[in-house]
Amino acid sequence: MRVVYFSADQDADKWLPGLRAALPGAEVSLWVPGAAPADYAVVWKPSQQLLDEQPQLKAIFNTGAGVDALMQLRLPAGVPVVRLDDAGMSVQMAEYVCHALIRHFREFDAYEADTRAGKWSFRKPLSRADFPVGILGLGVLGERVARAVAQFEFAVNGWSRSPKVVPGVQCFAGMAQLPDFLAASRVLVCLLPLTPDTRDLLNLANLSQLSPGGYVINVARGAHLVDEDLLALLDSGHLAGATLDVFRTEPLPPEHPFWTHPKITVTPHTSARTLRSESIAQIAEKIAALELGQPVAGKVDPSRGY
Ligand code: NAP
Ligand code: GLV
Repeated sequence: MRVVYFSADQDADKWLPGLRAALPGAEVSLWVPGAAPADYAVVWKPSQQLLDEQPQLKAIFNTGAGVDALMQLRLPAGVPVVRLDDAGMSVQMAEYVCHALIRHFREFDAYEADTRAGKWSFRKPLSRADFPVGILGLGVLGERVARAVAQFEFAVNGWSRSPKVVPGVQCFAGMAQLPDFLAASRVLVCLLPLTPDTRDLLNLANLSQLSPGGYVINVARGAHLVDEDLLALLDSGHLAGATLDVFRTEPLPPEHPFWTHPKITVTPHTSARTLRSESIAQIAEKIAALELGQPVAGKVDPSRGY
């Protein structure tokens, strides 16, 4: 069996030995133009050339959860695309979102400013009931985040494409229920895949429907958010702040206003990192399953785009 690996970002020096150890008997090599045809490709943001030059692939493994970069390419017909299915990401995402939510709700930035100034002062506790949290996307990551947030006794709303039942979460589905979901939420967490239906969803019209004093946490993709609309709603006071991990252009350009906005916290696309050993183990297991003709989790449905 031949496996080619290519990543626009990740460290091939570490992935190649890891894949070779997990796939004894397979010939694993770095993809270069003109590489011999392989059975499987393990990729992150590959070029069109890689796909065009690999006509015999049995499956394409994406070394991340989001497949939006792959979906921009012309994919070989009938070849399954398999994305990471958690692989250690959901607990990281739960940590990140709970941290951002609690930092905001408990006003830890204001406390830090006070204590740095040597001030021992108290703020009136805010009411948890005034901070219902809405999670856009109730998939592998969104559902895990919803359960983690519910542990802190916030009311949790969730929105997905198909109807869902998640204990402790008030579930909404489809565009028809988006207004009710937004009106019931004050903190909005975006964990949607980026598709034509979800691009620009965090826009003026939708963000205006959050309760006054709303807070946005975008941990999915930068293109869900219309940057100017967020800035306008922060400046008008309708939104109180935002924590943003993902951006339309990454790295975030030095001149972008998000860097210095007093109500925005920026992190460098780090909320849920691909963990190499967990991911390699998952991919190796799935290759073994596919070789036996067994089903695997995380198969992308090209008609949905995720
Ligand atoms: P997933 O399991 O595929 O879940 C996606 C969820 O979004 C599902 O609940 C799906 O609804 C819902 N959805 C999709 N399109 C929708 C639409 N048009 N309207 C309403 N709901 C819609 O994906 P995941 O593993 O949770 O990952 C989510 C995204 O997180 C990834 O695509 C990626 O972009 C992002 N991510 C970011 C980082 C980071 O470090 N910042 C790390 C990992 C992933 P159904 O359940 O009805 O299908
Ligand atoms: C990271 O953003 C991923 O999609 O895994």
